[in-house]
Amino acid sequence: MAKVFNRSATNTYCRTIAVLLLLLWRNILIVRPENGVADDGVSSRKTSPDGYLRVAGDGEGSSFKVALFADLHFGENAWTDWGPRQDLNSVNVMSTVLDVESPDFVIYLGDVITANNLPIHNASYYWDQAITPTRARNIPWASLFGNHDDAPFEWPIDWFSSSGIPQILCPSVNSSGGDECSFKGTTRLELMRNEIAHSSLSYTGFGPQNLWPSVSNYVLTLVSPKRDPKLPLMFMYFLDSGGGSYPEVISSIQSEWFRNKSQEVNPDSSVPEIVFWHIPSKAYEKVAKKVVGKRTQCVGSMFQERVAAQEAEMGMMKRLRERSSVKAVFVGHNHGLDWCCPYEKMWLCYARHTGYGGYGNWDRGARILEISEDPFSIRSWIRMENGTLHSEVILST
Ligand SMILES: *[C@@H]1O[C@H](CO)[C@@H](O)[C@H](O)[C@H]1NC(C)=O
Ligand SMILES: *[C@@H]1O[C@H](CO)[C@@H](O)[C@H](O)[C@H]1NC(C)=O
Ligand SMILES: *[C@@H]1O[C@H](CO)[C@@H](O)[C@H](O)[C@H]1NC(C)=O
Ligand SMILES: *[C@@H]1O[C@H](CO)[C@@H](O)[C@H](O)[C@H]1NC(C)=O
Repeated sequence: MAKVFNRSATNTYCRTIAVLLLLLWRNILIVRPENGVADDGVSSRKTSPDGYLRVAGDGEGSSFKVALFADLHFGENAWTDWGPRQDLNSVNVMSTVLDVESPDFVIYLGDVITANNLPIHNASYYWDQAITPTRARNIPWASLFGNHDDAPFEWPIDWFSSSGIPQILCPSVNSSGGDECSFKGTTRLELMRNEIAHSSLSYTGFGPQNLWPSVSNYVLTLVSPKRDPKLPLMFMYFLDSGGGSYPEVISSIQSEWFRNKSQEVNPDSSVPEIVFWHIPSKAYEKVAKKVVGKRTQCVGSMFQERVAAQEAEMGMMKRLRERSSVKAVFVGHNHGLDWCCPYEKMWLCYARHTGYGGYGNWDRGARILEISEDPFSIRSWIRMENGTLHSEVILST
């Protein structure tokens, strides 16, 4: 299995050069603190001895813009005329948003493809198509998994209870059960491996091995040349909320990972943090129920459909509530919802259905985040395919 994560020195070197080139025209950039380093110690993309990238020079009017592409569902009904046509439409949505907004970074917020039982060759092909508009514009990105990105084998939900994630017991190499043992869920790994291997602009991480089969768990750090490099502008956490080859849940061990990680990188909570995953947590359900018929600070579309939440809450929201530095959570999954609502001391937000694949005919668009410094703020809005903008909201000041 470890072979999967080997990255040649040449590859790392090329990546470093590519990233440095990128710095020449970017004032603020994203770095990965020591992430991409799997627990087995194999570094995927370590960029400097302490894991931070630094930019020389002073940035002016510095802000950092992120576009969220959610629920693209590439490769759906690929055997019909309809499917490939939807994918072209989705490329057009992304292209419009990228050209109108010129973001510094893109986040693929899960359900990038509809991969139910697709062979890895095909899944990677569709995944790559979804990335193409971003790559073609030389914009770096990160991705995480939704419930449709891999699908076959169901792990029972009670495997994810407080005792943590079970060991995978593999039959001996020569037995016929070998294929079962690789549990098809490796398609998550395979997809990530493919993305990272072919993309110097990808900031996606595998996450530590002790969280598998939950894969896309990692943190990115936003630093600014104006500031002490030891004082990042913001942290962005990415989590795999499951679905597909295992239950739709953020397990207790993932929330423990988040606690450990946030303690490690931001021990005094002095740096703002935002969090991304695909399937809304149960807190989204609660928030949506509360606002019915009331005047609230919520913005966006709230009642097109019901919140389809994760199967269980295993402690992640508690961890987030404990940290005053957590400003907002962003999810996809519900194609008809694009709201942001206050929840405790943070905001819970949906992205906007970006793809023509997947259910629903609501107009397509993308959530945009703009992170400014001096003074710090996180603003957000929805940019629609026809170029209009709505639901602007300030998520942090
Ligand atoms: C996978 O891709 C191959 C060729 O690239 C194609 O012939 C085949 O039909 C695809 N299979 C599925 C299930 O999409
Ligand atoms: C598996 O098969 C190979 C070649 O047939 C054999 O050398 C090896 O001993 C086998 N291993 C096990 C665990 O049966
Ligand atoms: C969190 O940190 C504790 C203490 O260092 C460690 O025992 C535990 O394994 C860590 N958990 C995860 C999921 O990384
Ligand atoms: C753009 O789309 C929005 C809804 O998605 C709609 O309300 C608006 O009328 C459209 N504007 C134009 C100029 O087409």
